[in-house]
Amino acid sequence: MAKASVVFSKDNEYYTPKYVVDFFYPNGFDYDPATCEGKAKEFGVKHYDTIETDGLAQDWTPYDRIWINPPFTDKHKFLAKAVETYKKAHNTIYVLFPIEFLTTARFHDLDCHCKLFIPRGRINFESGLGKEGKSPAFGSVVIKLADEDTVEYIDLKDSSKNVDDYINIETVTGHVNGTTITPKKPWYR
Ligand SMILES: C[S@@+](CC[C@H](N)C(=O)[O-])C[C@H]1O[C@@H](n2cnc3c(N)ncnc32)[C@H](O)[C@@H]1O
Repeated sequence: MAKASVVFSKDNEYYTPKYVVDFFYPNGFDYDPATCEGKAKEFGVKHYDTIETDGLAQDWTPYDRIWINPPFTDKHKFLAKAVETYKKAHNTIYVLFPIEFLTTARFHDLDCHCKLFIPRGRINFESGLGKEGKSPAFGSVVIKLADEDTVEYIDLKDSSKNVDDYINIETVTGHVNGTTITPKKPWYR
């Protein structure tokens, strides 16, 4: 049961089809700061926050692999927090966004680097748990926070490929505040 003080917006209840999340991490993400219980269970995310527990109020630095399709009305706040978290923890953070946002001053002013994954075609978001939505009026981009800017063109519907075909594990090795960061686990990227 939702808390009385929580205001749900229809614009925010559009969900990512599972094949999109599986493309980036078939073994599952550790944390999703903006979700609902049903979607977190479907994706097999171990830790998550919902509108009731407020992901923006939490510390994201302990998690290795974070998936975010932010609520539309607060999307810039979630991206700003993802950038701030990456700068501190150098963790793996994927953020799904409307591609148009890349042209905004708000994005340019974020002072971040990222690997942009540009999908072929549009993602049909689900208009409720298990409900297929209509084709959206905008394209999407998946932003992976990184130390350098790169772009990859991907086909999410090509089930013979996943993110491993586009990411060189060497690229996660780097230096943060004088400390060498190396992959923590073979699948850490
Ligand atoms: C666009 S949906 C994405 C859901 C899921 N992560 C996915 O990829 O399909 C955004 C979700 O974030 C929830 N939400 C809204 N404000 C939130 C907040 N402050 N903290 C956590 N979740 C929030 C919404 O209720 C909605 O279920």
